[in-house]
Amino acid sequence: MVIEHTLQQENGMLSYAGKDVARFGKPCFVFSKKRLLSQYTRIKEGFGAFIPTQVAYSYKTNDCVDIGKVFAKAGSSFLVCNLRHLREVGGFSKNIIYYSACLTLADAKKVLKSGVRRFIIDSPGAFSVLMEARGDTRLDVLFRVATGVVTDGLYPTDTCFGMSFADAKVLMHSAFGLSGLKLGVHNHLISQNVDLDVWTRNSDLLVGFIAELKRSGVTVDYLDLGGGFPIQYIGEDVPLLDTIVESLQYDLLTLKKIFPEMTLIVEPGRFLVGPAGVLVTRVIQTKAVEGRNVAMLDVSVYNASLDSLIVDLQLPFMTNSKGKKVRHMIRGMTPDSLDVFRKEVVLPTLVVGDLVVFFNAGAYTFNADFLALEKIEVKLI
Ligand SMILES: Cc1ncc(COP(=O)(O)O)c(C=O)c1O
Repeated sequence: MVIEHTLQQENGMLSYAGKDVARFGKPCFVFSKKRLLSQYTRIKEGFGAFIPTQVAYSYKTNDCVDIGKVFAKAGSSFLVCNLRHLREVGGFSKNIIYYSACLTLADAKKVLKSGVRRFIIDSPGAFSVLMEARGDTRLDVLFRVATGVVTDGLYPTDTCFGMSFADAKVLMHSAFGLSGLKLGVHNHLISQNVDLDVWTRNSDLLVGFIAELKRSGVTVDYLDLGGGFPIQYIGEDVPLLDTIVESLQYDLLTLKKIFPEMTLIVEPGRFLVGPAGVLVTRVIQTKAVEGRNVAMLDVSVYNASLDSLIVDLQLPFMTNSKGKKVRHMIRGMTPDSLDVFRKEVVLPTLVVGDLVVFFNAGAYTFNADFLALEKIEVKLI
């Protein structure tokens, strides 16, 4: 496991994007605009080398408006999943894909009224709702399919999202007969997909399905591969984005042969914001327990890293602690047994006031209001 360190350490000073993190007096997430943009460029150009590509930032991954604006300025569109996010994103972008796994007629009408013209459809029922709501509005409709590929990553694949290929084929045939629709195939297999073989098996099936649609007379304008581009946490080997793109290269070129006008859409969330965000925390208390130095931080997994709790995702970190290396447990600030950032790690001894700065920490930073914990501030530098 090779961890690319986004933080620099020199003479006991920890810095991020050229800024001493000690200047942040309170716990906060710090995002580098430069890094947000470089992540965006990596994915846009990585896929764009093979096929025209549109990037739609998955806004739920981190719904900070200022981060959204950075991507909007770079040319990104946005994947939005509810009306509240639609209002927020609508404030700075007109390029929105709307996806609800439970689309209602009332919501579909509101989304259309806001000007959105691209939808992901999860079921035949949702398609009927959208067709009823649209009148004769011209739309892009992306049909989410479930490929049946199973993997045992951090997140589950048995989600019941999307339709079987057979159901999607029937639906896309009927959609193709309607005027004013451009059609796409959509799939999002799993977040943090670290398995190259799973990436290729999944995309082989999607491209095979598109070839089958072509043979049966249906034109497909878009393939939306969803998100899932992984970043480095503790305990996993993660392929580089370039390696993933390389493993999909054959399928992308095949796609262009089937439909030369095809546009690829990707909906990264974690890959765009994760590596650009660090979480600045400090030690507020320590105690020795059975040979370990237990350090309590001024944040909790409940307001800083809920996925550490939900899927045992462990954020990498650096500290400015000095001295003897000893075993540590890193706890959050609540008296909750599950509030643990790291059960066992060897570090120079942490003392009160030391910085513990988590990196690759900018994705899925949603919080719970357990114990009335505050939402952690976000700063862009
Ligand atoms: C439909 C869809 N697209 C994209 C994403 C973004 O995924 P990730 O953050 O893994 O890139 C998600 C997240 O779960 C999703 O559900």
